Amino acid sequence: MTDWEHHYQQGETPWDKGFPAPPLADFLRATPLQGDILVPGCGLGHDVRAIAAAAPEARVLGLDLAPTAIDRARSFPPAGRERFTTGDLFALDPELRDAFDWVWEHTCYCAIDPARRNDYLKAVATALRPGGHLLGVFYLDPYDDDHRPGDGRPPFGTSLADLEDALRAHGFGILHSRVPDRAYPGREGRERIILAKRGEPSGT
Ligand SMILES: C[S@@+](CC[C@H](N)C(=O)[O-])C[C@H]1O[C@@H](n2cnc3c(N)ncnc32)[C@H](O)[C@@H]1O
Repeated sequence: MTDWEHHYQQGETPWDKGFPAPPLADFLRATPLQGDILVPGCGLGHDVRAIAAAAPEARVLGLDLAPTAIDRARSFPPAGRERFTTGDLFALDPELRDAFDWVWEHTCYCAIDPARRNDYLKAVATALRPGGHLLGVFYLDPYDDDHRPGDGRPPFGTSLADLEDALRAHGFGILHSRVPDRAYPGREGRERIILAKRGEPSGT
């Protein structure tokens, strides 16, 4: 199992690019997220601050297992109404259930053991209010010569069909699914941006 806290303490965080995910920045330009927003596995919080800066009234909560990540996230100047908390998405506090209009996913789904993906989707559905939205950039293909499927290390890839089937199985209707126009260097064409709604029938 990955020791995320150790990675942050050692400064071994190759996933942290120092700025928000480009597909999120593009989405926010057209559609700032409003209301209560949860960002699980937020790391240093670049995406959290981008969401908060795009909509001054939005209440954004960054959640991460690693206390060092959360300490560092809190050390940045505030961008809006963002907050950060240390915690486990798989053991959500009662006040975080049925509490969010949006969940923003980015490199949390691919970070967790694939055996826990159902737990991830259950937790996200539990955090969202009925009719709430899951918006995510899913890293479908993180593999190269040094990192192969089955080597037991994150990031863990997935097929698009498996991901969309899993979303539907957890009661999400997929509203939008496409390859994003922009990505971090090296991730071009390997990701999918998906907008899904809790509690809607599939195929809408
Ligand atoms: C690959 S990192 C991505 C961080 C951030 N999204 C980014 O792109 O910089 C995965 C993050 O998920 C966090 N994480 C893993 N399992 C978690 C869980 N069960 N609950 C909350 N956070 C978790 C890790 O601590 C880590 O910060």
